[in-house]
Amino acid sequence: MEHLTIIDHPLVQHKLTLMRRKETPSATFRQLLWETSMLLTYEITRDLPLTTMNVDTPICPMMAPILDGKKLALVSILRAGNGLRDGILEVIPAARVGFVGLYRDEKTLEPIEYYCKVPPELDHRLVIAVDPMLATGNSSVAAINRLKEAGANDLRMLCLLASPEGVERMKDAHPDVPVFTAALDEKLDERGYIVPGLGDAGDRMFGTT
Ligand code: URA
Repeated sequence: MEHLTIIDHPLVQHKLTLMRRKETPSATFRQLLWETSMLLTYEITRDLPLTTMNVDTPICPMMAPILDGKKLALVSILRAGNGLRDGILEVIPAARVGFVGLYRDEKTLEPIEYYCKVPPELDHRLVIAVDPMLATGNSSVAAINRLKEAGANDLRMLCLLASPEGVERMKDAHPDVPVFTAALDEKLDERGYIVPGLGDAGDRMFGTT
C-alpha cells in the first residue's frame, strides 16, 4: 500500500472547500466533517478482507461475502479526532472505539498525553487512528507509538488535511502506517498551523478559540 493516499473524490473536495471557509459556522463545519468522514471511510476500508458465509435469500441459498477477522478498532486522537469518529461509526457501527488524549504544548509543539483507553486485542485488529489535522506530525507519531505499545501492528492513519512536514515525519517514524488524507496542503506556518489549512479544527468544530 502507498504511504500516502489522497482521497480526491469530488464530494470530499467540495465539502473540504466549504470547511476551509472562515465564514463557515461551527454547526455547519461539524455537519460537513461528519459527511466527509463517511466518504473517507469508503476509501480507507476499500481493501478490507472478506470471507463468505452461507445465507438463505428468499429465493435460494448462496455463499455471500462478509467482512473477515475481528472488528476493527477506531482510535480518536482527542479532541479533534472525535469529529471524524462519528461519521466513521455511522458506516462501521460495530467498530470498537478507543481514545488517545494529547494536547500540543503551544511553545514546543510537543504532544503531552493526558488520556489513553483502547479496545482489547489490538494485535488482532485493523486499527484506524483519526485526527483531522496532520500538521507537525508530533501528535500522530506519539499516538501511533502508544497504540503500538498497546499491541497494534496493523495501523492506518486517517486525517482530513496533511502538511508535507507531517507526512514526512510519519513516514520516518512509522513507515508501516499508511496515511489517508483529503488534501496535502502547502506547508506549516511558524505556529505549526497548516497553510492554507482551515484553522484549528477543534475550535472550528466546537466554537472555541
Ligand atoms: N491543528 C489544527 O487544528 N490546525 C492546524 O492547522 C494544525 C494543527
